[in-house]
Amino acid sequence: MTRPCNDSFLRALLKEPTAHTPVWLMRQAGRYLPEYRETRARAGSFMQLCMNPGLACEVTLQPLARYDLDAAILFSDILTVPDAMGLGLYFTDGEGPRFERPLREEWAIRDLSAPDPWDHLRYVMDAVTEIRRALNNSVPLIGFSGSPYTLACYMVEGASSTDYRRIKSMLYDRPDLLHHILAVTADAVGAYLNAQIESGAQAVMIFDSWGGSLSPAAYREFSLHYMQRVLATLIREKDGERVPSIVFTKGGGLWLESIADIGCDAVGLDWTIDIDEARRRVGDRVALQGNIDPAVLFASPATIAAEARKVLDGYGAAQTGHVFNLGHGISQFTPPEHVTALVDAVHQHSRLLRQKCS
Ligand code: CP3
Repeated sequence: MTRPCNDSFLRALLKEPTAHTPVWLMRQAGRYLPEYRETRARAGSFMQLCMNPGLACEVTLQPLARYDLDAAILFSDILTVPDAMGLGLYFTDGEGPRFERPLREEWAIRDLSAPDPWDHLRYVMDAVTEIRRALNNSVPLIGFSGSPYTLACYMVEGASSTDYRRIKSMLYDRPDLLHHILAVTADAVGAYLNAQIESGAQAVMIFDSWGGSLSPAAYREFSLHYMQRVLATLIREKDGERVPSIVFTKGGGLWLESIADIGCDAVGLDWTIDIDEARRRVGDRVALQGNIDPAVLFASPATIAAEARKVLDGYGAAQTGHVFNLGHGISQFTPPEHVTALVDAVHQHSRLLRQKCS
């Protein structure tokens, strides 16, 4: 049994009672923190930072040193998996991620195979081991991966896209090719998450950032189905503890009931749905994670606290199973001191709500 001293995050995912609502933030280690920018400069580039376990550990811990967060998330990127599949990931300043060899030809797609995470992604496993050691059981560590569909978007488009022209052409004209990419990628993601769990990740999250761009039927066939396949292969228990899983489809508010049915412990919400409505719709099948608009962090600390209280009140004090988070990643332009206002408001107000209920 290796539950961390502060296990509120794991307890909330399992819908067990907690003294306060646990909170962490998507992209909590990132460019809004001056200490992150300093470490990244020392590493030379974003990818060198990801590939150096000592430095990846250092930046993972930076937000925890500043804020009273209830979980740490591995510092890495979802695109390390396609990089390990041979696509050649690189980042250009201001333009985001790019691949040297995007998947455009049928022969390249047929050649695709799932990488052995212990070999090609060893640096991620080493980072997980090092972070667990450094955390010393203070808070749990979250591992993560992109969803097969979201990874396929980058692999086929070759970069971020606004219209998904290439992948959607493939989806409609050559669904067989896209299904092949997704099947191989689902195997890769399952093995990758299991290796993270073996290395010490205590919960895992699947980021489906682009599933929300699909029609309902295409979402079920090309995104949801493959996330279900990944979940079916995951290690569910390690050292006598359940390893909970979170599925986050950005823009997936219309499909919450179906997402809650694929075998995850929690569903992540963006800010385009009210959390009380989400709770009513999924019942008590899963825990919920979210869902304040990340842009709230540009407002004054008093407004941030008021908006945080609205989300907590919306969820309802008497109910277990809420992990507070942003509805998407934190912006690089967020003033760092505003995060203190958010985290403290979540803890204070949720404790107060529980006192009123007991
Ligand atoms: O949450 C965390 O703190 C863990 C680290 C993390 C990063 N990326 C670090 C990162 C996680 C969980 C991700 C996930 C990720 N990466 C997603 C899914 C979540 C989402 O945002 O929808 C996606 C789509 C990516 C792909 C990716 N990586 C993009 C589009 C970019 C460029 C973003 C930008 O704002 O320029 C990245 C780079 C990246 N990944 C950065 C960080 C901190 C910024 C890189 C830098 O330091 O220059």
